[in-house]
Amino acid sequence: MKPDLSLHPVAIGPLALKNNLALAPMAGITNAAFRVLCAEGGAGLVVTEMVSAESLKYGNKRSFEMLKLLPGEHPAAIQLFSADPACMALAAQAAERAGADAVDVNAGCPVRKVLRSGAGAALMKTPLLLAGIISAMVKSVKVPVTVKFRVGLEAGENLGPGLARVCEEAGASAITLHGRPAAQQHSGPVDLEAMAATAAAVKIPVFGNGGVENAEQARAILATGCAGVGVGRAAVFNPAVFSEIAAGLGGAGVEAASQAFRIRLFLRFLELNAGIYGEEHGLARARKLVGYWLKGLPNAASARGAFMQLKTLKEARELLIQYTR
Ligand SMILES: Cc1cc2nc3c(=O)[nH]c(=O)nc-3n(C[C@H](O)[C@H](O)[C@H](O)COP(=O)(O)O)c2cc1C
Repeated sequence: MKPDLSLHPVAIGPLALKNNLALAPMAGITNAAFRVLCAEGGAGLVVTEMVSAESLKYGNKRSFEMLKLLPGEHPAAIQLFSADPACMALAAQAAERAGADAVDVNAGCPVRKVLRSGAGAALMKTPLLLAGIISAMVKSVKVPVTVKFRVGLEAGENLGPGLARVCEEAGASAITLHGRPAAQQHSGPVDLEAMAATAAAVKIPVFGNGGVENAEQARAILATGCAGVGVGRAAVFNPAVFSEIAAGLGGAGVEAASQAFRIRLFLRFLELNAGIYGEEHGLARARKLVGYWLKGLPNAASARGAFMQLKTLKEARELLIQYTR
């Protein structure tokens, strides 16, 4: 079948997405405030940071806070990680109770601590266990269960088609395939051939992910036969990138986000963050992101330094207003 290179709706099981552009999960970045910006910025689906199913099992307050969704971000998937099927099933129920529209299994995280526990990308080497996790979750919740994994662990490996079949048979409703091996972390080329083989191996939608910043790169992913595209880092300092990509794929036209527009989005992010964590804590959590947002702006280094001292939203507005006009 000829690949569909356009912007189009996608069904993840019973969940209908308005379009085939998804925000990829990013620990430390895709919190609820950021996800609202991405949903408003045109993403058809947003995904939380990965949440430890083990921590949820032990009642960790911070992990339960990570399950909280805001009204403006739906449809939203909550991503979970653990190598224990029973624990993942319980966590999926908690995610469903929190209002998740889908629950996603992290089978691609390359962080050593996660790998040592048998979770994340380690699950790519234990397909029976991955299948056990998926089917335990599918039996425990009504919302669709999805999986995110990589093309392989080492360069040149293509585990995608086999794993995709395993996931589909276990009841997964969609897959996100990061087109880089785990050994490559988040850099280097994306293996489009491996992506094509994976998309061809299953009937469920495959979202291809890796290195997409514009419509042309999104089209290259769709040309592999993937039903959709996952966007990670390009959204970090421009959550409106989804609308820009959508326009390039034949959706309604939008202008590329100006710097002033982006800084207004950053202010909105700070306001949403304040609503979740309180003003001072919300600003403190934004410190590690401010460099991305201010990159390339005049006096960015000094503004960044000043941002580190801020305690109130009023101070943030006063500091950033120079960039919003
Ligand atoms: C800071 C950071 C955190 C990430 N955290 C997660 C995560 O929690 N779960 C996950 O499945 N992938 C995670 N990823 C991988 C992204 O979802 C995505 O696969 C990767 O960034 C490639 O897409 P991109 O090239 O569009 O950024 C993370 C990536 C980055 C850069």
